[in-house]
Amino acid sequence: MDQEEIDRRFLQRCINSWAHFVDKRLQLGKGRDDPIYMKKNLHIVDKLKEFIDEWRSRGYPETESIKWAERLVERANSGATSIEPYRGEIGREKFFDIIKGRRSIRIFLPKPVEEEKLKKLVEAALWAPSGCNQQPLDFIIITNPEKVRWAAEVAGKKFLPYSPAMIIVVADTRRTETADDVTKPKELRDKPGPVEGYDTGAAVQNMLLAAHHLGLGTCWIGANKSEGEAKLVRLLGLPEFFVITAFVQVGYPAVIPPPPPRRSVEECIHWLR
Ligand SMILES: Cc1cc2nc3c(=O)[nH]c(=O)nc-3n(C[C@H](O)[C@H](O)[C@H](O)COP(=O)(O)O)c2cc1C
Repeated sequence: MDQEEIDRRFLQRCINSWAHFVDKRLQLGKGRDDPIYMKKNLHIVDKLKEFIDEWRSRGYPETESIKWAERLVERANSGATSIEPYRGEIGREKFFDIIKGRRSIRIFLPKPVEEEKLKKLVEAALWAPSGCNQQPLDFIIITNPEKVRWAAEVAGKKFLPYSPAMIIVVADTRRTETADDVTKPKELRDKPGPVEGYDTGAAVQNMLLAAHHLGLGTCWIGANKSEGEAKLVRLLGLPEFFVITAFVQVGYPAVIPPPPPRRSVEECIHWLR
């Protein structure tokens, strides 16, 4: 990594963190006079604007996150803190049907899955919450059953039964580095935090529910940072800072298993009234 890349990533990280902070305060109806915007004698909205200007002056690419940060600065400065009130009604019963109707499918029909549907699953994953909105996840989609088998074997998941498609969720650990980390040599950096794991849980669940909604079956296969998984990362041609965080088998279900029982709501809730 050269100095230019370090600088760009550092600047991007500062913009993302501070934009995230401004966004949260705006949602709470806090304008730029909110004292929390003041940190160590500087105003975060102004500092964010300076970072954006610096980004532009260096000729770095115009990304969605830069435009987003800029809109936040405009909103904070104009005093337009409020967001639209929720007006719609989600089809609540249908939503719970989807949640409860999803099953882990382990036997699939030998029928290819349409690429458009697989893209929809990733779209659903990308709309999951993400810690500090760092969005560290990428998705490797395998649509050739022979290659699915190959990947499963390399990763040490030989027990996986057939599936026509598989989505391998990988996390770019650079995206979850702290702003401090990117300036340090690798051996001095903080260990990757748990954000990749939490983000994966939310993203995968979105994919499983979207798949069920589209008539597809899925089975989530856990990743465990094994040597086999690291080898698969290398063979897939990904840089070493990627880790596999989940495998999702996808296909048209051949059977729908009965739902395994869940603990009861009464057993799991502990009210504090
Ligand atoms: C983190 C995680 C890892 C999982 N790994 C596997 C796995 O390796 N093999 C498998 O057959 N199912 C796996 N599952 C699926 C669970 O076995 C399944 O969700 C659970 O038995 C409940 O069944 P249901 O999904 O049909 O409601 C995994 C689920 C999660 C959340």
